[in-house]
Parts: sequence; C-alpha cells; structure tokens
Amino acid sequence: MAEMRVLITGGAGFIGSHLAERHIELGDEVVVLDDLSTGRIQNLRLILQHPKFSFQQGSVMDLDVTSKAVEKCDIVYHLAASVGVRRVVDDPIGTIERNVSGTMCVLRAVDRFKKRLLFTSTSEVYGKSAKVPFSEDDDIVLGPTVKPRWGYGCSKAVDEFLIQAYMRQHGLYGVIVRLFNTVGPRQLGNYGMVIPTLVRQAMKQQPLTVFGTGEQMRCFLHVSDAVHALTQLASESSAKGRVVNLGGTEEISVNDLARRIKAITTSSSQIHNIPYDDALGPGFEDIDRRVPDCTRVRQLIGFSPKFDIDAILRSVVGHELSEKEGQFASGALQ
Ligand SMILES: NC(=O)c1ccc[n+]([C@@H]2O[C@H](COP(=O)([O-])OP(=O)(O)OC[C@H]3O[C@@H](n4cnc5c(N)ncnc54)[C@H](O)[C@@H]3O)[C@@H](O)[C@H]2O)c1
Repeated sequence: MAEMRVLITGGAGFIGSHLAERHIELGDEVVVLDDLSTGRIQNLRLILQHPKFSFQQGSVMDLDVTSKAVEKCDIVYHLAASVGVRRVVDDPIGTIERNVSGTMCVLRAVDRFKKRLLFTSTSEVYGKSAKVPFSEDDDIVLGPTVKPRWGYGCSKAVDEFLIQAYMRQHGLYGVIVRLFNTVGPRQLGNYGMVIPTLVRQAMKQQPLTVFGTGEQMRCFLHVSDAVHALTQLASESSAKGRVVNLGGTEEISVNDLARRIKAITTSSSQIHNIPYDDALGPGFEDIDRRVPDCTRVRQLIGFSPKFDIDAILRSVVGHELSEKEGQFASGALQ
C-alpha cells in the first residue's frame, strides 16, 4: 500500500505506541497526539528520533489542536481515552468527559477534512450480558447508572452512536473496533489491568491479588496481534462502516492465570482472593465470561492470532525483566 500519513490519538499509551511503531515499520509517516495523562513518552523511545515520526502533546478535547493534526493526515486512529476499571471508579467525571468530548472533537475534525477514522471501542459496551460469545449485533445490557463502573462502557457506546450518526448523516468513512482484553509489554497495572498487576506481584514475591472467586473467565490478545489486525482493518475497504470484535478466543479463569504466572516466574507468592467490594467499592459488578465472536474479523482480514496464553505471559514477563534490568543499570532501583 502507498505510504500514508497517520495520526494516532492516544499514541503514547500502551496500544497506541505499538501501533505507531508498526506504521513506522511499514514506511508511513506517523504523528502522535497525546496529553500524556496515562501515556508515557518512554513508550515511544524506539521511534522518537525517527525522521518520519513526530509527537505532539495536546488534548483531543481541544478542537483547534485536533483539527490541525487531522487536517495533515490521511487516516486517524482514535485511541485517546480514559481506560481501565480502576480509573472509571476513581474518576467517573474525567472518564466520561474525556471519552465523549474527545470523540466529538475528533469526529468534527475528520468530518470537516473528510478523513478516514478507525475508532477503538471496547468489549465493555456489551455490559453485563450473559451471552457467550458476544457478537457485534447483540443487544447491549448495561448496569444501572448508580454504579460508576458502567460509565466507561456507556461512554464508549455513546462514541459508537456518534460515529454511526456521522457515517449515516455525513457519509463518514469509519471503522469501529471493539477490543477485548489486550495485553503485552508496556501495559501498566495501575488502572486495574490483571496481567501486569499479577506479573509484577509474582516477580516481587508479593501475594497475587485476585478479585472475587477468580473463577471469572477471560480471553486475552497480545498487543502485536491486535496492532497487526488494526492496520489491516484500517486499510480493508470491506471493513468500512462496520463494527468489528477483536480479541483472543482461548478462555482462561483468573485463578488459572495466576497459577500460570506463578509457574512462569517461579514465584512462591500465595494467591489471595479479595472480594470485589473491598477491591473496587461496594456493589461492584463484574462479568463471569467475556468471549468475543471473531467470525467477522476472520472473514474481513483472515484474523488468526499468533500468541497463545503462555506466549503472552512469557512476553510480559520478559518485558518486566528487561525493564527491571534497565532500572538497575541506571541506578533507579538503588
Ligand atoms: N487495553 C485494553 O485491553 C483495551 C480493551 C478495550 C479497549 N481498549 C481501547 O484501546 C484504546 C487504547 O487503550 P490502552 O490500553 O492503550 O490505554 P492507555 O491508557 O495506555 O492509552 C490511552 C492514551 O490516551 C491518552 N489520552 C487520554 N486522554 C487524552 C486526551 N484527552 N487527549 C489526548 N490523549 C489522551 C493517554 O495519555 C494514553 O496515552 C482506548 O481507546 C481503549 O478504550 C483497550
């Protein structure tokens, strides 16, 4: 495909930084717009000095800044968002504001300059539906508004409605990708992400904190598989206007995950089950099973992830070890 100029909002974050690297590898020009609220410049260290890369610190809630960045590019990946269960519980106003106002600004800009948009939505939009697996056209079953946890999925669902409206009314070229649990190097554990949290605890020989009974089942996708699929979906014309699930399909319970992490890190840590109410506030609701139906993404781009769960865990542990060595080398841990 011809060289493109790509804008990635939220590109200093976990997934965005891998996506930026991928487009640089493909020979494209990449601009990252990020306010560094949860993202980090060090996530971009491999490409920061590359002649085809540029970083702009700014918020997608600023229409002027966003419009200027959008005008100069061919395609916009809109990833900037407030992410993570812990974050939405701790800062429900900030989460909803960022997710809805930010997307409104991006949409105004891409609509004005007639650019292509790929939006990263989330499996959280399915809410607490008990259906297995989740298919793109399923009903949304959100929890009550008195529980802040549902504010994240609901804000992303509002974003999806907005994109659908722009596609219908103004002919916007949009693709909505509902990411399921995506994991890999650079993901932070600070906002409730399970794998980085458990891996760091195991490596420090601290108790592994598993919320609830630990029998809840999850599927994980390695970030390099996710990013590969995102770039394909962005350039695949039959994905235009579609909502697409993207996730791993190998189910594992959080207890099993903790046991495998202990084995891979040869950790002697104990597994501690913590009631949801203690971990995430009274009345916190979780989902027993969250499995994507990946038929659509397989049909569109022949999606077939390379990393199984053990390869994912080895990749995260390897990254944590190299970070630790880097900190020792620079004296940061002394
Ligand atoms: N990681 C997952 O498992 C997962 C699952 C489902 C959906 N997603 C979606 O993928 C996207 C990326 O998530 P991530 O895991 O990389 O999270 P992340 O927190 O690492 O990345 C989000 C980035 O957005 C930036 N940002 C936030 N508000 C901004 C603003 N107003 N202006 C500019 N930049 C802003 C942050 O600084 C950060 O760099 C998000 O849209 C998220 O909803 C992620």
